[in-house]
Formats: sequence, C-alpha cells, structure tokens
Amino acid sequence: MYILGIESSCDETAAAVVEDGKILHSNVISTSVKEQALYGGVVPEIASRRHAEYISATVEQALRDAGMTIADMDAVAVTFAPGLIGAVLVGVNFAKGLAYGAGKPLVPVHHLRGHIAANYLTHPELKPPFLCLVASGGHSHIVEVQDWCRYRVLGRTVDDAAGEAFDKVARTLGLPYPGGPSIARAAKTGNPRAYRLPTPKVEGKYNVSFSGLKTAVVNEVHNAEQRGGAVNVPDMAASFQERIAQILARKLLDAAADTGAKTICLAGGVAANGRLRQLVNDGAQKLGARVYLPELKFCGDNGAMIAAQGYYEYQDGNLAGLGLNGLPTLAIDYR
Ligand code: KG4
Ligand code: ZN
Repeated sequence: MYILGIESSCDETAAAVVEDGKILHSNVISTSVKEQALYGGVVPEIASRRHAEYISATVEQALRDAGMTIADMDAVAVTFAPGLIGAVLVGVNFAKGLAYGAGKPLVPVHHLRGHIAANYLTHPELKPPFLCLVASGGHSHIVEVQDWCRYRVLGRTVDDAAGEAFDKVARTLGLPYPGGPSIARAAKTGNPRAYRLPTPKVEGKYNVSFSGLKTAVVNEVHNAEQRGGAVNVPDMAASFQERIAQILARKLLDAAADTGAKTICLAGGVAANGRLRQLVNDGAQKLGARVYLPELKFCGDNGAMIAAQGYYEYQDGNLAGLGLNGLPTLAIDYR
C-alpha cells in the first residue's frame, strides 16, 4: 500500500511516499528555517505563507522522486494536529483538495504519532509495545506505545518543551535558531561540569520541568554581565546539554524500569541530540532493554513519518471526510 504523507505543522513543508508504513520511496523537505532564524524563532505568519508557496512543488517532487503519480497512491495522509494552526491548515487543505480530486482516501495523522512512527522507517522489525520519549519543539512526553494507534501518556513537561528549552537557552547565549543543533555544536568544545545547573523539582514521577533550568542559565549570564564579564559559551552549552539530557534520560529509564519495558525509543527533533542518545543507550543496557533510535534524517519534521503512521491509522479505520479541520492542540491518545 502506497501512502503520500504531507506535513506542514511548523516550519518544514514536507512530503514523502512510503510503502506499507516502512519502505521509503521519496522524502522531500522544504524549510523556512533560515528565514525564521533571522527572527530568532518561528514566526507563524511567515511559516504559513511559505507553506502556501512551497507545498505544491514539494508534493510534486515527492511523487516524481518516487517515480509515481497521485494515481498510484492508495491514500493521502496529512498532519492535522497539533501545530501552528495557520501552518497546519495549509497542509490539511492541500491534502483535502488532492484526495478529492484524485478520489483517494484521506487519513488524518497526529504529529507526535508521526514522530514515533519515524522509528518504524529506521527499524522495520520494531513493533509495539514499547516506551518512547517524544521530545520536540512543542512537546515532551513519555509515552507507552501499546499498539500502532494506542498510547498511554506516563509523563509530560509541566512548562517548556525540551526543544523549546534548547531554543531559549541558545538565544540567551547568542547562538542561532534552531537552538538544539547550535547548542550541541557549541558543547563539543565545552566542559559539561563547568556550571552547576539545577534539576528542577516537579510533581509526578515521570513529569519534567525545564523553566527553572532555563532561568538558572539566564541568571548565570546576567551575573557574569554584572561583573563586567560573560559566561563561557561552550562551557555553558555543554553544562546545559548535559543537565537536560540527564533529566530526560533519567525519567525515561525510570519509567522503563518501573513498567518493565524491554524496548525503548526516542522520537522528535530533540532525539537527534547525541548526548541524549548516548545516555539512553548506556542506561538501557544496564536495564537489559533494547533501544531503537530514529535515523537523524527522520528526527526533525518530515513527510515520511506522517506517511508511515498514516498506514497504521488507515488500517485502524481512521479516515477523514472533506470536513477535516486542523487543530492547534490534541492529546496523543485521542480516539
Ligand atoms: O520535532 P521537531 O523538528 O519540530 C517540532 O515538532 O517541534 O523539533 C524541533 C526541536 C527544536 O526545538 C530544535 O532546537 C530541537 O528540536 N533539536 C534539537 C536537536 N536538533 C533539533 N535539540 C537538541 N539537540 C539536537 N541535536
Ligand atoms: Zn515535530
């Protein structure tokens, strides 16, 4: 079964063709990230306008790269929630028109379910149940993936998402957007023990909180400035990365130990972080659990992950009519 996946929930306009939820035939990503970087973060209005400009050519390229046409597709899957609403609506409406015109079924896909499905593309043998940390620019969840379309959220952030914390700290340190890759790059030459940053306390065993950590970095920067100096950027980047990776890995591994999960995954933009990947790998080995990590090219937003999850949503009978709307927020375990 061939599915065309379309993604437009943030600053990537993306389309891909995936067979049976696992086999990649094309993966095209057009991004407005360079333009967004000028403003230090995503300007929703700019993202929406670029999606409207890029989407047609992006989808055409994905079909062309796959050597197919829309007539060869068995369904069109699209991210309908959660995300920047003006951005999401561009993809939703394009997918509706395309599905209607070609007489194909329309499959609505939850963006975070898509991030999780990125793991199926990298590891075709992977099957639920497993435990997954989904960490992106807008969300940080520890999720029990009980089945292809069944989820139980064990923990979440009570304030900022992990990616948002990377982005805000990078901005404070004068590093470019997106903050995750900038911090990881700066951290390479820094000492992770140079600054003592806190682990914020939070209610709920698997919940996380990052606003106190971010404030601690801001305070260090201000204190240094008041003394007429500046923080050492590589050292602060390394110290921050170490602390946030430790927090995320610890919570995920605690949840794995408590639930007896023997399979652990990472998903979302922050899953590209090398230190986080390493800590999860090391910790899982001690637990005797198997770790599956998405290939770096599938960590950030892409159409392939939407097409992959779209396959399972289709099998589950999750089809949409032409009244499909986009939603800015929606729980991952919605039914
Ligand atoms: O999943 P994603 O591409 O988009 C959303 O759904 O939000 O995640 C983007 C987030 C950004 O906050 C970015 O700074 C972060 O993922 N990110 C990283 C890395 N690469 C991207 N965070 C830490 N380390 C990285 N290597
Ligand atoms: Zn995302």
